[in-house]
Amino acid sequence: MQFPVLIINFKTYVEASGSKGINLAKFAEKVAHEYGVTIIIAPQLIDVRAIAQEVDIDVFSQHLDPNPPGSATGHIDVATLVEAGVKGTLLNHSERRLEISILEESVRVAEKNNLLTVVCAGTIGLSQAVSAFNPWAVAMEPPELIGGDVSVTTRPEVVKQAVSAINMVNENTIPLTGAGVKTADHLGSAVELGTKGVLLASGIVKAKDPIVVMKEMAQVMIKYKIE
Ligand code: G3P
Repeated sequence: MQFPVLIINFKTYVEASGSKGINLAKFAEKVAHEYGVTIIIAPQLIDVRAIAQEVDIDVFSQHLDPNPPGSATGHIDVATLVEAGVKGTLLNHSERRLEISILEESVRVAEKNNLLTVVCAGTIGLSQAVSAFNPWAVAMEPPELIGGDVSVTTRPEVVKQAVSAINMVNENTIPLTGAGVKTADHLGSAVELGTKGVLLASGIVKAKDPIVVMKEMAQVMIKYKIE
C-alpha cells in the first residue's frame, strides 16, 4: 500500500448515502487511479456491499461487532462484511464508541478475518493504550474538532505526541490523525507531523466539489510519498 493514505469516512451524510455514496466512491476510485495514491472509503454500512462491487479501491466498514454469527440481532457480522468485499474497518469512532474490552475483542476478530483495523482514539493516552491491541492503524481525533473548521493540525504538539505514543507502544501500527482536516495543506501538515495519513469526512463529503478536493489532496500525497 502506498502511503500517506487518505481515508474518507462517509458517516451517514446524505451527500454520501445510497446512490450518492456510489458516485462519491467512483470519484475516489478515479482520483486514486489517476494519481496512483491510496484512497480508502468507509461508506455507510448499508451501502458497503453495493459500493465494494462498484469500485476497486479498498472499502472499509465504519464498525463491526465481535459476536459470533447467530444469535446477535442487530449486530454487524465480520464474515458477512468480508463476503461483501470489505477490506477493513473503523473501530471506536467518537460517534460509535466501544467499551475497551469489546474494542480489543473487535480488533482481534477483525484481524483474524484479515480485515485491516483503524482504531479511533480521542486522546493521546487512548491512542497509546489501543496501540497495544496491535491494530493496523490508530487515528487520533480530538472529538471537539470533528466536523468543524479547525484542523487537528493546528495542534501540532498533540499530533506529534500522539504519533510518538503510538510508535512507542507498537512500531507496526500506522499513526493517523483526523478532525477538521479540510484542505490539502492540512493533509501535508499531518504528514509533516509524523502521521502516515488522515481520516476525514466533511472536508470531502460536504465540499462543493469533492473531486477537486480529492485531486488537491492526491497531489500532496504524491509530494509527501513515504517510501
Ligand atoms: O472519521 C473522520 C471524522 O471523525 C472527522 O470528521 O468531518 O472533521 O473530517 P471531519
